[in-house]
Amino acid sequence: MDFYEVLARRRSIRNYRPDPIPPDIFERLGAAVASAPSACNRQPWKVLVVTEPGLLEAIRNACPQRLLTGAPAIAAVLGNAAEAWKRPEGDSIVPVDVAIAMEHLVLAAAAEGLGSCWVCAYDRKKVDAAFGIAAPWSVYALTPLGYPAMPAATLTKKPLAEIFEVIA
Ligand SMILES: Cc1cc2nc3c(=O)[nH]c(=O)nc-3n(C[C@H](O)[C@H](O)[C@H](O)COP(=O)(O)O)c2cc1C
Repeated sequence: MDFYEVLARRRSIRNYRPDPIPPDIFERLGAAVASAPSACNRQPWKVLVVTEPGLLEAIRNACPQRLLTGAPAIAAVLGNAAEAWKRPEGDSIVPVDVAIAMEHLVLAAAAEGLGSCWVCAYDRKKVDAAFGIAAPWSVYALTPLGYPAMPAATLTKKPLAEIFEVIA
């Protein structure tokens, strides 16, 4: 699929069919994440794709919205704040690195015909506990993964001139 078609196809999907995702797709999603850039190439992340019913339930219970319900898989993007490069001011770049990895994941999912939806509105302590992780690791974002049950809602984006400019 053309890259720009993938960009257009990626939309936040909030309703899923329960059909399972073939394992070879997970392999390609992993390769897409592995190719993501990161500051000093530290790759301070790990992506965990969950299909195990007990863990799916624990994650869903930590999310107040019903966004994660129905999808056969949930991906969690974990970041390690200590391993990530630090800016000269001392703050960890981990949220940036993790966001890039997550975006590689959701774009690759779109190329595979899968829906996804960035989810950050969840109880982070509960999700970290569900995965059995503690600082410096934490879950920075979740996404359901699965085949869309319906198309994404129509959405208005800001006019291009407002958000993108070439200064020559
Ligand atoms: C960092 C981030 C966090 C988000 N968290 C949530 C969330 O918790 N719940 C939700 O329904 N959507 C969440 N979204 C999805 C946005 O609402 C969505 O990207 C936006 O409305 C644009 O729609 P689109 O993704 O279809 O282009 C999040 C998106 C980003 C980038």
